[in-house]
Amino acid sequence: MLYIGIDLGTSSVKLLLVDEKGNIVNEVSKEYPCDYPNPGWSEQAPENWVINTFAGVKELIADIDKSQVVGIGLGGQMHGLVILDKEDKVLRPAILWNDGRTEKQVQFLNGEIGKSKLSQYTGNIAFAGFTAPKVLWVKENEPELFEQIEKVMLPKDYMNYVLTGVHCTDVSDASGMLLFDVEHKTWSKEMLEICSLKEEQMPKIFESADEVGTLLPEVAAELGLSSDVFVIAGAGDNAAAAIGTGTVKEGSCNISLGTSGTVFISQNAFSVDDNNSLHSFAHANGKYHLMGCMLSCASCNKWLMEDIFGTEDYNDEQSKIDENALGKNHIYFLPYLMGERSPINDANARAAFIGMTMDTKREELTQAVFEGVAFALRDSIEAAKALGLNIERSNLCGGGAKSELWRKIIAAVLNIKLDILQTEQGPGFGAAMLAMVAAGEYESIDAACDAMVKVTKTIEPDAELATLYEKRYQEYHMLYPALKSVFASWAEE
Ligand code: XUL
Repeated sequence: MLYIGIDLGTSSVKLLLVDEKGNIVNEVSKEYPCDYPNPGWSEQAPENWVINTFAGVKELIADIDKSQVVGIGLGGQMHGLVILDKEDKVLRPAILWNDGRTEKQVQFLNGEIGKSKLSQYTGNIAFAGFTAPKVLWVKENEPELFEQIEKVMLPKDYMNYVLTGVHCTDVSDASGMLLFDVEHKTWSKEMLEICSLKEEQMPKIFESADEVGTLLPEVAAELGLSSDVFVIAGAGDNAAAAIGTGTVKEGSCNISLGTSGTVFISQNAFSVDDNNSLHSFAHANGKYHLMGCMLSCASCNKWLMEDIFGTEDYNDEQSKIDENALGKNHIYFLPYLMGERSPINDANARAAFIGMTMDTKREELTQAVFEGVAFALRDSIEAAKALGLNIERSNLCGGGAKSELWRKIIAAVLNIKLDILQTEQGPGFGAAMLAMVAAGEYESIDAACDAMVKVTKTIEPDAELATLYEKRYQEYHMLYPALKSVFASWAEE
């Protein structure tokens, strides 16, 4: 039997065809653009998700016996606001997870409603990228569209709707909306009221491995699949990646180096970070997790390589870095290209290179980007430490995990062991695994992880490098506080 796992990402949709033993039979990726209509804003046309996912599925299964495909699972970029009218037409481009336009609405929620009430209602406080502040932004800035909203959806849930005709979401993705009572896994009546929404406008909630429906006949015909193929609720990309990397046991950790960078810590029981640094969300395995999210991770490197250096040869650029210079670079990079979420919660923060001299070379900038991202990930590890969670090892996934140099830097900066898996494509693999559990191939998600997730390599932190980076991290940590008021005054201009 074959399963399709789809990661509806920010820069592309990545599709995996996986057999019931976890062997990857085929993989396809299709890129689509992201629009930045104003500095710090980020939007995407849901139509592009549909066009590229359909094209991707067709390519993925072009050479196989299509009757072998039984189920589809999606993991997707979280928090994005997709609004539909009464005909289920998309009302405006989706406002994405890394969009920072809602500063005013975040201030209203955290300030006037108050962080403690928000946390009591949802387990979380407001961050610019979360869905509820965006609903309030649409209400204030596009009232004629707000009036027409019949359904509020998330990106992968919109795709699931296109595939099945069912308005659904899953507990892990719903957690990031700030409209969901994470502990009790229901819509928060208080938050819906604050956002002038009714429960009928929200999709139906499922656990991640629940089947939501089967392919609509016209979709099945278009894709060349049987209309018996089922679709599961799926998960937010981070929870799906946690399944795909086997991050399901209490305290186990997964770090994802994608467009965003996340530190995901699996928890058996619901808990809240009283410092409000880490999000408290439902996991795709029926339990919970804590998570820190940086908004620009591998995307910082992509930006430097493609937009600034004008090259696509990442390996060549990395090969110029002198490994003896690791931990000794005096150039720092603040990775706040889209503002920052965890732990500083500052949509106005901006990226910066600091410490350059006349002899600075381009490879030192590449190195500084790798290091700056690693330092920002360390902030989330420190936030976990403050809660008494000592992370000694982590799984690693996402496109950035392919770079051996970056792995080495991250292991040393975090001073933890990093487990590399058979595929860096955590969300797609995890979504396919959830579909297999739904089909009864495995009796539980834990059993699926035990059988299919394989660690292929472990990166040990280099002790000497870890010492060098400790000092650099402390220095890095002084930079944002020094610049914070400058960023704030730019935002007022
Ligand atoms: C998590 C988050 C990002 C997106 C990226 O809170 O915002 O990781 O899910 O796809």
